[in-house]
Amino acid sequence: MFVRLWHRSFYIHDLLAIGLLITLIVYLALPFRFASHYEYIDGSRIEAALIPQVTRNISLQEVFECRYVEILEENRFVYNLAHYHEAVHRQEEIRPGGEFRPEQCQARYSTAIIVPYRQREEQLHAFLTYMHNYLRQQLIHYRIFLIEQFDHKPFNRAMLFNIGAQVAAEYGFPCLVLHDVDLLPLNSGQMYACTELPRHMCSALDHWRFRLPYRGLFGGVVSINTVQFQQINGMSNLYHGWGGEDDDLYERLLAMGIDICRFAPEFSEYTMLKHKPERPNENRVALLRAAALRQHSDGLNSLVYKEVERRMHSLFTHVLVET
Ligand code: UDP
Ligand code: BGC
Ligand code: MN
Repeated sequence: MFVRLWHRSFYIHDLLAIGLLITLIVYLALPFRFASHYEYIDGSRIEAALIPQVTRNISLQEVFECRYVEILEENRFVYNLAHYHEAVHRQEEIRPGGEFRPEQCQARYSTAIIVPYRQREEQLHAFLTYMHNYLRQQLIHYRIFLIEQFDHKPFNRAMLFNIGAQVAAEYGFPCLVLHDVDLLPLNSGQMYACTELPRHMCSALDHWRFRLPYRGLFGGVVSINTVQFQQINGMSNLYHGWGGEDDDLYERLLAMGIDICRFAPEFSEYTMLKHKPERPNENRVALLRAAALRQHSDGLNSLVYKEVERRMHSLFTHVLVET
């Protein structure tokens, strides 16, 4: 009896040891698969990291520049504020096309928020209500562009971002936030403005139990300067269906020697509204392998689409496109 028990515990210990050894080998071989620790910009350094840039038409209209230091110092958890979800408050402040700029001071940042979209009505409603309440407390100048795929081909998220970036550039926006419709920021201090380096904004997502699954994750919500987006030739137009296109964007940045950044986790919490998973693109791994090779021929310079309609909705600029 004693021997059998001993043998049994020896067997369990053995398995544990082998398991640990395998984990260690994988960790050493692929350190970036694990991102329990990642570098970030802490609260005291955020303001200095943001680039003051506005569209030409709004500069020098107000004498006093808006102050951002209090917003960053306060950095409140705002997702639990019921009135943020109920309705768009003081809607008269928002201009047709979903544009806002503070009246009492001059904004230091102008940001185009680009949302790729098709058939997510409930999420869109929640997004617009919450985001207009959320964004106005940041005292920035912003405009929401909804880029809707009109055709029935597989969804092409990256191509919709290319289109959105092009439209936003027409309106003179120096900073882009590429934003899934189902993600909502929880902390008031995740400034919707661009940093010198492209920024992964939703690094503490509830869906991932507030942890970053891998260091190269650059999807969900990211900010990037319009000029940088143009330098990397935008995103690939070839990802039809779910997955990989955000990893491709990360590869493009790497290939051009552009690193990414993140804010501290207490600024980067997001929630994802519930939905069924989309059908993965079978081709995504093969495409990703050649991301850097295709970068200069596949992107903004090869973008072909048809704009079906552009309409100024009270809460967003609606661009309906055929891909
Ligand atoms: N999306 C959409 N309709 C679709 C598929 C995707 O509007 O049929 C947009 C939407 O903005 C969504 C984003 O693409 O948030 C990313 O897709 P999804 O949420 O399915 O991917 P996840 O990040 O959850 O894996
Ligand atoms: C996919 C990405 C996705 C990530 C997180 C990766 O395997 O390629 O597109 O954003 O998983 O879901
Ligand atoms: Mn989602």
